[in-house]
Amino acid sequence: MKLLFIGDVVGSPGRDMISEYLPKLKAKYHPNLTIINGENSASGRGITHKIYNQFIENGAQAITLGNHAWDNKDIFEFIDTAKHIIRPANFPEGTPGKGIIYCPVGGQEVAIINLQGRTFLPPLDCPFKKADELVNQAKKRTSIIFVDFHAEATSEKLAMGWYLDGRVTAVVGTHTHVQTADNRILPEGTAFITDVGMTGPYDGILGMDKDAVIKKFKTALPVRFEVVNGRTQLNGILIDVDQKTGKAKSINRILINDDHPFFD
Ligand SMILES: [Fe+2]
Ligand SMILES: [Fe+2]
Repeated sequence: MKLLFIGDVVGSPGRDMISEYLPKLKAKYHPNLTIINGENSASGRGITHKIYNQFIENGAQAITLGNHAWDNKDIFEFIDTAKHIIRPANFPEGTPGKGIIYCPVGGQEVAIINLQGRTFLPPLDCPFKKADELVNQAKKRTSIIFVDFHAEATSEKLAMGWYLDGRVTAVVGTHTHVQTADNRILPEGTAFITDVGMTGPYDGILGMDKDAVIKKFKTALPVRFEVVNGRTQLNGILIDVDQKTGKAKSINRILINDDHPFFD
């Protein structure tokens, strides 16, 4: 079984990359399940119902979020009824939405869990304890468990990977928008990468206009960041899973930009 995951989609440049390349990636790799992190898909801040529907039409079966989950108020209108979207599970009890979903894949189920780190991010419930709880819950239904750990610190993401090694199929990091080259299968069979990267502008800073970000660093004055147009990129990963054991067989990076062109 193959799982395709696309890193944080930023604004319309990111959405355009999904429309253009998701069909090509599907034709080339034949994933059984496609997951998109959509926390920045609406102008870099949150997600709308329309964009959610568009991702599902594009061929995604699950959308994960992160610290930007609530930036567009549209989310509150649909997160409780939409079947294919999850937000970090370790938000306080009573937060709208849910942090785990089960996606049917060829007679089996894949559990998808979204968690958020606490280092250099707002304080939430412990993601490690929440992971224990949800993994134990998911194990009763399936051995194939995918975790999107949305976190800032590489150490926290590595810690989650090692903590869940052998208990889940994959732990993939998101949030920092820069793809790391440490994709590997941990000793007990869990696929891991510190950060999948982002999908959207290629010449900005994490998807935003670079001049505004540079100004912010130079002046420390309030600056509004906007998604920048121009050249684009897509960052993702492809995981091959032994569907009997739920262990990962391989994890490969996908990087599409002008310096790494896509070949069908
Ligand atoms: Fe993001
Ligand atoms: Fe984020």
